[in-house]
Amino acid sequence: MEIVHDTAALQARADEARADGKRIALVPTMGALHAGHLALVEAGRALAERVCVSIFVNPTQFNAAADLAAYPRTWEADLAACREAGVDWVFAPEPEGLYPEGFQTWVDVSELSEPLCGATRPGHFRGVATVVSKLLLAAKPHVALFGEKDFQQLAVIRRMSRDLGFGVEIVGVPTVREADGLALSSRNVHLAGEARSQATALVRALDAAEAAVLAGEVRPEALEEIAREEIGKAPLAEIDYAELREPENLRRLRAPLDGLSLLALAVFFPRASGAGETVRLIDNRVLPKPLPQEERT
Ligand code: PAF
Repeated sequence: MEIVHDTAALQARADEARADGKRIALVPTMGALHAGHLALVEAGRALAERVCVSIFVNPTQFNAAADLAAYPRTWEADLAACREAGVDWVFAPEPEGLYPEGFQTWVDVSELSEPLCGATRPGHFRGVATVVSKLLLAAKPHVALFGEKDFQQLAVIRRMSRDLGFGVEIVGVPTVREADGLALSSRNVHLAGEARSQATALVRALDAAEAAVLAGEVRPEALEEIAREEIGKAPLAEIDYAELREPENLRRLRAPLDGLSLLALAVFFPRASGAGETVRLIDNRVLPKPLPQEERT
Protein backbone atom coordinates (compact mmCIF):
# COMPACT_ATOMS: atom_id res chain seq x y z
CA MET A 1 0.00 0.00 0.00
CA GLU A 2 1.30 3.40 -0.94
CA ILE A 3 0.61 6.67 0.89
CA VAL A 4 0.39 9.57 -1.54
CA HIS A 5 0.21 13.19 -0.37
CA ASP A 6 0.48 14.99 -3.68
CA THR A 7 -2.29 15.35 -6.31
CA ALA A 8 0.09 15.16 -9.29
CA ALA A 9 1.69 11.98 -7.88
CA LEU A 10 -1.73 10.34 -7.50
CA GLN A 11 -2.71 11.39 -11.03
CA ALA A 12 0.48 9.75 -12.31
CA ARG A 13 -0.42 6.48 -10.49
CA ALA A 14 -3.93 6.66 -11.95
CA ASP A 15 -2.66 7.31 -15.49
CA GLU A 16 -0.32 4.35 -15.20
CA ALA A 17 -3.09 2.04 -13.93
CA ARG A 18 -5.46 3.19 -16.69
CA ALA A 19 -2.77 2.64 -19.33
CA ASP A 20 -2.44 -0.90 -17.94
CA GLY A 21 -6.18 -1.42 -18.42
CA LYS A 22 -6.88 -1.45 -14.67
CA ARG A 23 -10.08 -0.03 -13.22
CA ILE A 24 -9.80 2.39 -10.29
CA ALA A 25 -12.24 2.73 -7.36
CA LEU A 26 -12.17 5.79 -5.10
CA VAL A 27 -13.48 5.74 -1.52
CA PRO A 28 -13.47 9.32 -0.23
CA THR A 29 -13.32 9.55 3.59
CA MET A 30 -12.43 11.94 6.36
CA GLY A 31 -10.66 9.15 8.25
CA ALA A 32 -11.74 7.74 11.64
CA LEU A 33 -12.49 4.65 9.61
CA HIS A 34 -15.07 2.13 10.79
CA ALA A 35 -16.81 -0.93 9.36
CA GLY A 36 -19.01 1.31 7.20
CA HIS A 37 -15.94 2.67 5.38
CA LEU A 38 -14.54 -0.84 5.06
CA ALA A 39 -17.77 -1.94 3.38
CA LEU A 40 -17.13 0.81 0.80
CA VAL A 41 -13.59 -0.50 0.28
CA GLU A 42 -14.87 -4.05 -0.14
CA ALA A 43 -17.46 -2.90 -2.67
CA GLY A 44 -14.71 -0.97 -4.47
CA ARG A 45 -12.46 -4.02 -4.61
CA ALA A 46 -15.27 -5.98 -6.24
CA LEU A 47 -15.55 -3.33 -8.98
CA ALA A 48 -11.94 -2.36 -9.67
CA GLU A 49 -8.35 -3.64 -9.61
CA ARG A 50 -7.01 -0.53 -7.83
CA VAL A 51 -8.66 0.95 -4.74
CA CYS A 52 -7.78 4.43 -3.52
CA VAL A 53 -8.99 5.63 -0.11
CA SER A 54 -8.69 9.36 0.44
CA ILE A 55 -8.31 10.54 4.03
CA PHE A 56 -8.84 14.27 4.31
CA VAL A 57 -10.76 16.16 7.00
CA ASN A 58 -12.17 18.74 4.65
CA PRO A 59 -12.29 22.13 6.39
CA THR A 60 -14.66 23.71 3.85
CA GLN A 61 -17.58 21.44 4.76
CA PHE A 62 -17.59 22.33 8.46
CA ASN A 63 -19.69 25.26 9.62
CA ALA A 64 -18.15 25.58 13.05
CA ALA A 65 -14.44 25.66 13.88
CA ALA A 66 -15.19 23.68 17.07
CA ASP A 67 -16.83 20.90 15.04
CA LEU A 68 -13.78 20.71 12.73
CA ALA A 69 -11.40 20.64 15.71
CA ALA A 70 -13.44 17.91 17.44
CA TYR A 71 -13.64 15.67 14.36
CA PRO A 72 -11.94 12.38 15.36
CA ARG A 73 -8.52 11.77 13.84
CA THR A 74 -7.10 8.22 14.01
CA TRP A 75 -4.36 8.23 11.37
CA GLU A 76 -2.34 5.17 12.46
CA ALA A 77 -5.42 2.99 12.97
CA ASP A 78 -6.82 4.17 9.61
CA LEU A 79 -3.63 3.14 7.81
CA ALA A 80 -3.66 -0.26 9.52
CA ALA A 81 -7.32 -0.77 8.53
CA CYS A 82 -6.58 0.22 4.90
CA ARG A 83 -3.59 -2.11 4.75
CA GLU A 84 -5.67 -4.96 6.15
CA ALA A 85 -8.49 -4.26 3.68
CA GLY A 86 -6.12 -4.45 0.69
CA VAL A 87 -6.20 -0.77 -0.28
CA ASP A 88 -3.65 0.16 -2.97
CA TRP A 89 -3.30 3.92 -2.44
CA VAL A 90 -4.12 6.12 0.53
CA PHE A 91 -4.42 9.70 -0.67
CA ALA A 92 -3.78 12.09 2.20
CA PRO A 93 -3.34 15.61 0.84
CA GLU A 94 -2.42 18.62 2.98
CA PRO A 95 -5.14 21.33 3.19
CA GLU A 96 -2.94 23.74 1.19
CA GLY A 97 -2.47 21.03 -1.46
CA LEU A 98 -6.21 20.93 -2.16
CA TYR A 99 -6.91 24.59 -1.35
CA PRO A 100 -3.90 26.60 -2.53
CA GLU A 101 -3.49 30.26 -1.58
CA GLY A 102 -6.16 32.33 -3.33
CA PHE A 103 -8.51 29.38 -3.92
CA GLN A 104 -11.88 30.71 -5.13
CA THR A 105 -13.56 28.05 -7.27
CA TRP A 106 -16.57 26.25 -5.80
CA VAL A 107 -18.97 23.55 -6.95
CA ASP A 108 -22.52 24.29 -5.84
CA VAL A 109 -25.37 21.86 -6.53
CA SER A 110 -28.04 24.43 -5.88
CA GLU A 111 -31.45 22.84 -5.24
CA LEU A 112 -30.46 19.49 -3.74
CA SER A 113 -28.11 21.21 -1.27
CA GLU A 114 -30.76 23.45 0.26
CA PRO A 115 -33.05 21.35 2.49
CA LEU A 116 -32.35 18.95 5.37
CA CYS A 117 -28.66 19.05 6.35
CA GLY A 118 -28.12 21.97 3.98
CA ALA A 119 -30.61 24.07 5.94
CA THR A 120 -28.92 23.32 9.28
CA ARG A 121 -25.38 23.53 7.86
CA PRO A 122 -25.34 26.27 5.18
CA GLY A 123 -22.43 25.84 2.77
CA HIS A 124 -21.81 22.24 3.88
CA PHE A 125 -22.64 20.64 0.53
CA ARG A 126 -20.72 23.29 -1.40
CA GLY A 127 -17.66 22.15 0.59
CA VAL A 128 -18.48 18.48 -0.04
CA ALA A 129 -19.14 18.91 -3.79
CA THR A 130 -15.96 20.95 -4.21
CA VAL A 131 -13.68 18.53 -2.38
CA VAL A 132 -15.21 15.48 -4.06
CA SER A 133 -14.65 17.13 -7.45
CA LYS A 134 -11.01 17.66 -6.55
CA LEU A 135 -10.66 14.06 -5.33
CA LEU A 136 -12.21 12.73 -8.56
CA LEU A 137 -9.78 14.82 -10.60
CA ALA A 138 -6.88 13.53 -8.51
CA ALA A 139 -7.70 9.80 -8.46
CA LYS A 140 -9.31 9.60 -11.94
CA PRO A 141 -11.51 6.70 -10.80
CA HIS A 142 -13.91 4.64 -12.90
CA VAL A 143 -16.14 4.27 -9.84
CA ALA A 144 -16.53 6.20 -6.56
CA LEU A 145 -18.34 4.79 -3.54
CA PHE A 146 -20.34 6.58 -0.85
CA GLY A 147 -22.48 5.41 2.08
CA GLU A 148 -26.26 5.56 1.79
CA LYS A 149 -26.44 6.83 5.39
CA ASP A 150 -25.57 10.23 3.94
CA PHE A 151 -28.45 10.04 1.46
CA GLN A 152 -28.46 13.75 0.65
CA GLN A 153 -24.69 13.78 0.13
CA LEU A 154 -25.01 10.85 -2.26
CA ALA A 155 -27.80 12.65 -4.16
CA VAL A 156 -25.71 15.85 -4.39
CA ILE A 157 -22.65 13.97 -5.63
CA ARG A 158 -24.61 11.96 -8.18
CA ARG A 159 -26.12 15.16 -9.59
CA MET A 160 -22.79 16.98 -9.58
CA SER A 161 -21.10 14.11 -11.39
CA ARG A 162 -23.89 13.95 -13.96
CA ASP A 163 -24.13 17.73 -14.46
CA LEU A 164 -20.37 18.22 -14.83
CA GLY A 165 -19.84 15.03 -16.84
CA PHE A 166 -17.17 13.47 -14.63
CA GLY A 167 -17.62 10.15 -16.42
CA VAL A 168 -17.42 8.21 -13.17
CA GLU A 169 -19.95 5.73 -11.81
CA ILE A 170 -21.23 6.86 -8.40
CA VAL A 171 -22.19 3.86 -6.27
CA GLY A 172 -24.20 3.97 -3.03
CA VAL A 173 -23.45 1.30 -0.42
CA PRO A 174 -26.03 0.31 2.23
CA THR A 175 -25.60 1.64 5.77
CA VAL A 176 -23.70 -0.59 8.19
CA ARG A 177 -25.25 -0.74 11.66
CA GLU A 178 -24.31 -1.73 15.21
CA ALA A 179 -26.09 -4.82 16.60
CA ASP A 180 -28.77 -2.55 18.13
CA GLY A 181 -29.40 -0.77 14.83
CA LEU A 182 -27.44 2.47 15.36
CA ALA A 183 -25.97 3.53 12.01
CA LEU A 184 -22.15 3.54 12.09
CA SER A 185 -20.68 7.02 11.98
CA SER A 186 -17.30 8.51 12.87
CA ARG A 187 -19.26 10.83 15.17
CA ASN A 188 -20.51 7.95 17.34
CA VAL A 189 -17.27 8.14 19.37
CA HIS A 190 -18.76 11.28 20.94
CA LEU A 191 -21.67 9.27 22.39
CA ALA A 192 -21.52 7.61 25.82
CA GLY A 193 -23.79 6.21 28.52
CA GLU A 194 -27.44 7.19 28.26
CA ALA A 195 -26.93 9.21 25.07
CA ARG A 196 -25.46 6.14 23.36
CA SER A 197 -28.38 3.90 24.40
CA GLN A 198 -30.97 6.50 23.43
CA ALA A 199 -29.33 7.04 20.02
CA THR A 200 -31.23 3.97 18.77
CA ALA A 201 -34.26 6.30 18.70
CA LEU A 202 -33.42 7.07 15.06
CA VAL A 203 -33.61 3.50 13.80
CA ARG A 204 -36.71 2.89 15.94
CA ALA A 205 -38.36 5.90 14.30
CA LEU A 206 -37.52 4.52 10.84
CA ASP A 207 -38.91 1.11 11.82
CA ALA A 208 -42.10 2.65 13.22
CA ALA A 209 -42.71 4.71 10.07
CA GLU A 210 -42.06 1.73 7.82
CA ALA A 211 -44.47 -0.42 9.86
CA ALA A 212 -47.08 2.34 9.58
CA VAL A 213 -46.75 2.48 5.77
CA LEU A 214 -47.12 -1.29 5.61
CA ALA A 215 -50.23 -0.99 7.80
CA GLY A 216 -51.73 1.47 5.33
CA GLU A 217 -50.70 4.95 6.55
CA VAL A 218 -50.10 7.17 3.49
CA ARG A 219 -50.29 10.68 4.98
CA PRO A 220 -46.79 12.24 5.06
CA GLU A 221 -47.55 14.43 8.07
CA ALA A 222 -48.87 11.41 10.03
CA LEU A 223 -45.70 9.44 9.21
CA GLU A 224 -43.50 12.35 10.25
CA GLU A 225 -45.47 12.55 13.51
CA ILE A 226 -44.95 8.81 14.13
CA ALA A 227 -41.20 9.30 13.68
CA ARG A 228 -41.17 12.36 15.94
CA GLU A 229 -43.13 10.54 18.65
CA GLU A 230 -40.73 7.62 18.58
CA ILE A 231 -37.71 9.94 18.86
CA GLY A 232 -39.53 11.86 21.61
CA LYS A 233 -39.41 8.71 23.76
CA ALA A 234 -35.66 9.37 24.14
CA PRO A 235 -35.51 12.25 26.61
CA LEU A 236 -31.97 13.31 25.59
CA ALA A 237 -32.86 13.57 21.89
CA GLU A 238 -33.49 16.93 20.25
CA ILE A 239 -34.89 16.70 16.72
CA ASP A 240 -33.26 18.79 14.00
CA TYR A 241 -35.53 17.40 11.28
CA ALA A 242 -37.76 14.39 10.64
CA GLU A 243 -39.13 14.84 7.15
CA LEU A 244 -40.66 12.86 4.34
CA ARG A 245 -39.14 13.75 0.99
CA GLU A 246 -39.17 12.53 -2.61
CA PRO A 247 -36.10 10.27 -2.96
CA GLU A 248 -35.28 11.60 -6.47
CA ASN A 249 -35.20 15.34 -5.86
CA LEU A 250 -35.56 15.69 -2.07
CA ARG A 251 -38.69 17.84 -2.44
CA ARG A 252 -41.01 17.80 0.59
CA LEU A 253 -43.83 15.27 0.27
CA ARG A 254 -47.25 16.72 1.07
CA ALA A 255 -49.64 14.54 -0.94
CA PRO A 256 -50.58 11.01 0.17
CA LEU A 257 -47.87 8.52 -0.73
CA ASP A 258 -48.26 6.63 -3.97
CA GLY A 259 -44.68 5.47 -4.45
CA LEU A 260 -41.36 5.32 -2.63
CA SER A 261 -40.63 8.03 -0.11
CA LEU A 262 -37.55 9.03 1.88
CA LEU A 263 -37.77 9.48 5.63
CA ALA A 264 -34.76 11.59 6.63
CA LEU A 265 -33.81 12.22 10.25
CA ALA A 266 -31.27 14.36 12.07
CA VAL A 267 -31.20 14.37 15.85
CA PHE A 268 -28.92 16.03 18.41
CA PHE A 269 -27.68 14.18 21.51
CA PRO A 270 -25.46 15.49 24.29
CA ARG A 271 -21.77 14.96 23.56
CA ALA A 272 -19.83 12.73 25.98
CA SER A 273 -17.31 15.53 26.60
CA GLY A 274 -20.18 17.51 28.17
CA ALA A 275 -20.01 21.31 28.40
CA GLY A 276 -23.42 21.55 26.72
CA GLU A 277 -22.03 20.41 23.37
CA THR A 278 -24.00 18.11 21.12
CA VAL A 279 -23.43 15.46 18.49
CA ARG A 280 -25.76 15.42 15.50
CA LEU A 281 -26.71 12.00 14.15
CA ILE A 282 -28.41 11.37 10.83
CA ASP A 283 -30.18 8.36 9.43
CA ASN A 284 -32.72 7.68 6.69
CA ARG A 285 -34.76 5.00 4.99
CA VAL A 286 -36.52 4.76 1.68
CA LEU A 287 -39.97 3.65 2.80
CA PRO A 288 -41.81 1.01 0.79
CA LYS A 289 -44.56 1.80 -1.69
CA PRO A 290 -47.93 1.74 0.06
CA LEU A 291 -50.14 -1.25 -0.69
CA PRO A 292 -53.12 -0.66 -3.00
CA GLN A 293 -56.19 0.55 -1.03
CA GLU A 294 -58.00 -2.81 -1.24
CA GLU A 295 -55.03 -4.71 0.25
CA ARG A 296 -54.53 -2.42 3.26
CA THR A 297 -55.34 -3.82 6.72
O1 PAF B 1 -18.77 11.54 3.86
C1 PAF B 1 -17.65 12.04 4.11
O2 PAF B 1 -16.86 11.49 4.89
C2 PAF B 1 -17.26 13.35 3.48
O3 PAF B 1 -18.35 14.21 3.36
C3 PAF B 1 -16.55 13.19 2.12
C4 PAF B 1 -17.46 12.57 1.08
C5 PAF B 1 -15.31 12.33 2.30
C6 PAF B 1 -16.10 14.55 1.59
O4 PAF B 1 -15.22 15.17 2.47
